[in-house]
Amino acid sequence: MKLRFAPSLLSADFARLATEIADVEAAGADLLHLDLMDGHFVPNLTFGPPVVAALARVATVPLDAHLMVTDPDLLVPELAAAGVQRTAVHAETCRHLNRTLAGIHDTGMEAGVALNPASSLMLLDEVLDDIDFVLIMSVNPGFGGQAFIQSSLAKIRRLRRLLGDRHVDISVDGGVDRKTAGSLAAAGATTLIAGSAVFGTPDRALALASLREAAQRGNDL
Ligand code: DX5
Ligand code: ZN
Repeated sequence: MKLRFAPSLLSADFARLATEIADVEAAGADLLHLDLMDGHFVPNLTFGPPVVAALARVATVPLDAHLMVTDPDLLVPELAAAGVQRTAVHAETCRHLNRTLAGIHDTGMEAGVALNPASSLMLLDEVLDDIDFVLIMSVNPGFGGQAFIQSSLAKIRRLRRLLGDRHVDISVDGGVDRKTAGSLAAAGATTLIAGSAVFGTPDRALALASLREAAQRGNDL
């Protein structure tokens, strides 16, 4: 599976979102990661479907929605209508995970399951054949710029084994930077999501190039 890089808009300048998107697209972003937070599941609030629809009008790369909300089912139809390509729901928020994943697929979007750092891979056991990707949180969700949780690496290795020959993307979100990218790719991650490591520097092309280079080298931390 080709390694992809998804800048997370959470660390962008919210007063200049269209410009920020154009900048990371020109810098080689493969996807654009959008963090939807409701102030309940996580202690932060961001934006909802109307803003996503506006972003979709200017973005040219696929949109990747990460739902950190207590009731993700409510948002799925609107996100699909906005043109989002793939959506991850947190297993911790879904009382009927199988139904929620089917609901995402019904809209034509790819479906993913996100897991908090302390959530077990066992939560995926019964949905392995119903998902297009897993979103491994390597920080506790809610904020950008937090320190990478080291145990995520072993979790990704175990997940890659668990997936066997299934064509399922492993995305990693939180603390991805040039120091962690190599180990994450070597462990089996195929999409690296990075907020502060990309938007926190003025030269986004350089930031993405150095992430790509570190990932290809596959260095240890
Ligand atoms: C955090 C979000 C992340 C966030 C990552 O809850 O899900 O997408 O933007 O930020 P960094 O890359 O700065 O850790
Ligand atoms: Zn995210």
